[in-house]
Amino acid sequence: MPSSDGTTNVATVTTLAASSQSPVLITGAAGTIGRMVRPRLASLGWELHSLDREPDGDPDISSIDVLDGAALDAATVGCGAVIHLAGIPHEAPLPQILEANVQGTQAVLDAALRRGIQRVVLASSCHAVGFWERTAGGSDLGVDVRPRPDTFYGVAKVALEALGQLYSDRFGLEVVSLRIGACKDKPANRRELSTWLSPGDAARLMDASLRGPVRGHVIAYGVSANTRGWWDLSTARAMGYQPQDDSEAFAEEIPPETSRRSRTGEQPPPAPERVGGPFTSLPLGGLTRSFQN
Ligand SMILES: NC(=O)c1ccc[n+]([C@@H]2O[C@H](COP(=O)([O-])OP(=O)(O)OC[C@H]3O[C@@H](n4cnc5c(N)ncnc54)[C@H](O)[C@@H]3O)[C@@H](O)[C@H]2O)c1
Repeated sequence: MPSSDGTTNVATVTTLAASSQSPVLITGAAGTIGRMVRPRLASLGWELHSLDREPDGDPDISSIDVLDGAALDAATVGCGAVIHLAGIPHEAPLPQILEANVQGTQAVLDAALRRGIQRVVLASSCHAVGFWERTAGGSDLGVDVRPRPDTFYGVAKVALEALGQLYSDRFGLEVVSLRIGACKDKPANRRELSTWLSPGDAARLMDASLRGPVRGHVIAYGVSANTRGWWDLSTARAMGYQPQDDSEAFAEEIPPETSRRSRTGEQPPPAPERVGGPFTSLPLGGLTRSFQN
């Protein structure tokens, strides 16, 4: 915690190790990923305390907004770790996305500090580095490339990772930022043959992020063992992640993509394959944003 003169005093933080003996708070539990991973994490031995601002009628989920500090404090009682999924998962106007995804993350990290919770797993996204291109040489994209967000959503994920770094440097928290690809039952297009994270692997990755060795702030890509993957999984594997699924199993189900021809009938050169795919040309702020006053 910061001392009265404003300096950081890591030694005063009382921490609890993440172990399956202590419950894990999972925020955004009623969302797409939350619903996919909760039963799987439970079968891996984790007791979960689930919260969401819209529990969607699920009696296992407490109706709590992470921006409500008192409610968050009550929800973290006895917890040994947090998985923070709550937020907006798509492009939106900057003020909205900063409140939901950046202030929300700060609120969760602050609550962890107040409770002495040592390990926090944050849902970042590949869109924090969406403008990076696949190299001609075929080497995997490292976790230490500089941020290249493709949208305001990506900007907020860069800020989320920065908060993770700040709270680990200042207060000694162990923070894992997962740059998740496309987490869904199966890939829906050719790009997702590279970026797919199966529900089972998502749970395995979160399990490793809770149990594995973490010093300071770790950034890890969140994808399955896809034959067509091109993101470096070494930091995820170092925590113990052993992905078991490969999108190649679905490759034949995915129709070939048709490329547009120019008016002269010539084939345009192929667009570079970027991490963020179509997000790199989405209207910033979403479709309703106007550049006029
Ligand atoms: N789905 C993916 O493939 C994917 C990929 C990369 C990153 N992510 C990230 O993973 C996280 C979860 O994604 P998802 O697809 O499950 O999204 P989702 O929208 O389905 O779920 C998010 C949940 O968070 C809740 N929520 C939002 N603001 C809240 C608040 N202030 N307090 C409490 N609950 C709040 C919502 O009610 C919702 O149920 C997000 O942070 C998203 O950016 C998702």
